[in-house]
Amino acid sequence: MSDASPIPLAIHGAAGRLGAAVLRLALASPACSVVGATVSPRSNQLGRPLGGEGALSYCEGLDPSVMPAQTVVLELSRVEALPAHAQQAATEGWPLVVGVTGLDGASEAALAAAAEQIPVLLAPNFSLGIALLKRLAQVAAEALGPEFDGAILDVHHRHKVDAPSGTARALAEALEGAGRTVPIVSQRVGEVVGDHTLVFAGPGERFELRHQAEDRTLFARGALAAVTFLRGQGPGTYTMDDVLAARGGKAAAP
Ligand SMILES: NC(=O)c1ccc[n+]([C@@H]2O[C@H](COP(=O)([O-])OP(=O)(O)OC[C@H]3O[C@@H](n4cnc5c(N)ncnc54)[C@H](OP(=O)(O)O)[C@@H]3O)[C@@H](O)[C@H]2O)c1
Repeated sequence: MSDASPIPLAIHGAAGRLGAAVLRLALASPACSVVGATVSPRSNQLGRPLGGEGALSYCEGLDPSVMPAQTVVLELSRVEALPAHAQQAATEGWPLVVGVTGLDGASEAALAAAAEQIPVLLAPNFSLGIALLKRLAQVAAEALGPEFDGAILDVHHRHKVDAPSGTARALAEALEGAGRTVPIVSQRVGEVVGDHTLVFAGPGERFELRHQAEDRTLFARGALAAVTFLRGQGPGTYTMDDVLAARGGKAAAP
């Protein structure tokens, strides 16, 4: 039977663009209870109240002595902070949802080590539409065969640190697994929330699969869906594909 009690949720990077959107949604959601919200040591939010009904303030780190046992941690800060956060989550037995993108060797190693002890969900994109796009891309690539070239266009706002996006990389990996090399073109312009276009071009024809994120609350909703999914899972690595499958969609072909 599924546990319907509110999920104790701690958010790293709670004052960032994505973190603030998730925090707003989590504070308003009966499905979660926010038990921690970290910001960078430089943040002018440090020590300020989070809002909502509780008496919590933004803090610099999570204190295990005050975290409930079933806490789920959402990592939305920066890749540099990730190894320490992953190590703490593994030590404390807190399931970890990672929304940060542009992972480097140190963070990948820390996450792989953590996944031996706790459930870790890696989501370079919290959109369920993107999870579906990835499946459709695999189906198209396999059906079309090597006569069709693939390419990915990744357009994001000018503040985005990494290029190509984590989503574009994941889509390229999915397509390359089906036997082709896929170039990625990245543009960082204005305030675009996130567009990904897959182009397939073959003899005499061309078609596109496109996803446009219109509003950051899309990612916030997906992040909370990932948190809900991860509660109660065993150690290991999960993705938004597992969240999509758990909602009734068929699992992607391996
Ligand atoms: N998975 C998805 O669907 C999705 C969607 C959008 C974005 N993202 C990714 O999520 C990450 C955050 O994106 P964003 O647009 O929200 O960036 P952002 O606005 O720069 O937010 C990151 C926040 O983390 C803070 N931070 C830095 N070090 C920290 C630490 N040690 N502890 C706690 N907080 C710390 C930063 O503070 P300072 O500015 O003071 O350093 C900043 O407020 C990026 O990797 C982005 O690519 C993922």
